[in-house]
Amino acid sequence: MIRSVILGSGAAKPRNVVTNEMLAEKVDTTDEWIQQRTGIQQRYIAEQDETTASLGEAAARVALDDAGVTVDDIDMIILATSTPNNTFPATAVDIQQRLGMKHGAAFDMQAVCSGFVYAVTTADVYIKAGQAKRILVIGAETFSRILDWEDRTTCVLFGDGAGAIVLEAQEGVGLSNDRGILTSHLRSDGSHKEKLYVDGGPSTTQTVGHLRMQGKEVFKHAVAMITDVIEDAFSATGLSADDIDWFIPHQANRRIIDASAKKLKIASEKVVLTVNQHGNTSAASIPLAIDVARKDGRLKEGDLVLLEAMGGGFTWGAVLVRW
Ligand code: UT7
Repeated sequence: MIRSVILGSGAAKPRNVVTNEMLAEKVDTTDEWIQQRTGIQQRYIAEQDETTASLGEAAARVALDDAGVTVDDIDMIILATSTPNNTFPATAVDIQQRLGMKHGAAFDMQAVCSGFVYAVTTADVYIKAGQAKRILVIGAETFSRILDWEDRTTCVLFGDGAGAIVLEAQEGVGLSNDRGILTSHLRSDGSHKEKLYVDGGPSTTQTVGHLRMQGKEVFKHAVAMITDVIEDAFSATGLSADDIDWFIPHQANRRIIDASAKKLKIASEKVVLTVNQHGNTSAASIPLAIDVARKDGRLKEGDLVLLEAMGGGFTWGAVLVRW
């Protein structure tokens, strides 16, 4: 059977690091509060010349190099983002143009913090259907542009950045020791849409709007939703928490990550944590964390990796992939 194998990965961060102490000079908050409630120590914030498209392009170039391919080898670009450069066209086509690619297709995928898991799942379906041989999947965000910098309950939580992977169709035998994506599971429930949303948009206010979140409400649902969809991934493959080499969750809050790992009985040394360095970068957080684990030598070929995310919508999902 066809498997979508990860050939390479890459990431790009804005130049500007903003520590909790720096934020505390402008907002009524403290380093202690932010670290205690979220685990965040710093985040990267884009300068005016750094956009979702430019960060996405930079991450894509690193991933293509790492994969040993060029844009000529890519059939499709899927960009997960909720902070596009423009309302339309899709920022994916902007990145396509920046990369000098004129063939194939490029489109954006909007599932907020679950965007990367949705984009990887979509790419896997195209590859398995024989519609594409290699797909560039990017998660890129500039959430700093939709934050209300007067609202301390949200502005301390998010950051900017981008990450990318290249997926390639390869033959597998259909067993769980195949390389590539073994299973993926997506969920959403729009009845929670008021708990995490942006209060603007082309069809309503004709403005971009600002992020609004009922943090406690999101927190309340997060662990149950995350663990539920991961259990689905385990049942579909016959794999368990003991088989996992690396758990790379969406990086929203250290307490949510720790509680999810504990409930699933995933050992803490298998959890890749980057929320301290990046803050919550929405659809970019998983590929940014992948990049960290690749660069520091933890993530190696053959490792079984569990990806998971939950965010606005609510949307949530999990992917099991053998590197
Ligand atoms: O990626 C998408 C998914 N999003 C998430 O996963 C976020 C989920 N939610 C959370 O991570 C947490 O709910 C937060 C980190 C957002 C907040 O933590 P919490 O423990 O739920 O705090 P809280 O909202 O209950 O606020 C506790 C107190 C309040 O003061 P009072 O009413 O107790 O006097 C807030 O006003 O903390 C206050 N507070 C702050 N204090 C200092 C809220 N924000 C801040 C702040 N600095 N930045």
